[in-house]
Amino acid sequence: MTDLFARLAIDPSRESMAEGATLLRGFALPREGPILTGIRSVVVEAPFRHMVTPGGYTMSVAMTNCGNVGWVTDRSGYRYDRLDPETGKPWPALPSSFLGLAIAAAQEAGYPNFRPDACLINRYTPGARLSLHQDKDECDFSNPIVSVSLGLPATFQFGGLNRNHAIRKYALHHGDVAVWGGPCRLFYHGVAELKDGEHQTLGRMRINLTFRRAL
Ligand code: SIN
Ligand code: FE2
Repeated sequence: MTDLFARLAIDPSRESMAEGATLLRGFALPREGPILTGIRSVVVEAPFRHMVTPGGYTMSVAMTNCGNVGWVTDRSGYRYDRLDPETGKPWPALPSSFLGLAIAAAQEAGYPNFRPDACLINRYTPGARLSLHQDKDECDFSNPIVSVSLGLPATFQFGGLNRNHAIRKYALHHGDVAVWGGPCRLFYHGVAELKDGEHQTLGRMRINLTFRRAL
């Protein structure tokens, strides 16, 4: 009787956030070293930058991407682009450690067919926040979002299909992986202002990897 429900009931490292959404506590920890190496290699080729929203607001979260396409925003809108607009070059490939982690986490959360082609890397310093939004620039919403938290803890806000739906809050710590898809694939979500602190590996910083199937 090791079906998903039985495991949800007995495994304290799994939390159900909603039907289709699972929080896997510490899931990335065994792969921490290769993941950090992967981040460093991506950032050398495609440095973090503060993008501008279509409304002209400079985001407090610094971003970069790897994969076949990368998520970008500028005055003309939000989109996935094959090229990094800062360098004019293709985004760095998804490191194999990233791919392995994303596929394993999706499988663990009940999405065995997930094969990401894009990873948005978000860097939060104290005071940075990400306001409530839906991830809806991808082609096919049958694929989940896999979100990996590293460094300083953050408060993740998880709502519903409407912006004014009640928000549930989850503290995300170093190594936690959140997966949402199915009926909550388009749920509004955001990250509250990052509190100051010092993480033993990443210092005064939180890094989030968000894996998507964009194309
Ligand atoms: C995102 O929604 O793109 C990022 C979420 C997070 O930083 O946890
Ligand atoms: Fe998002």
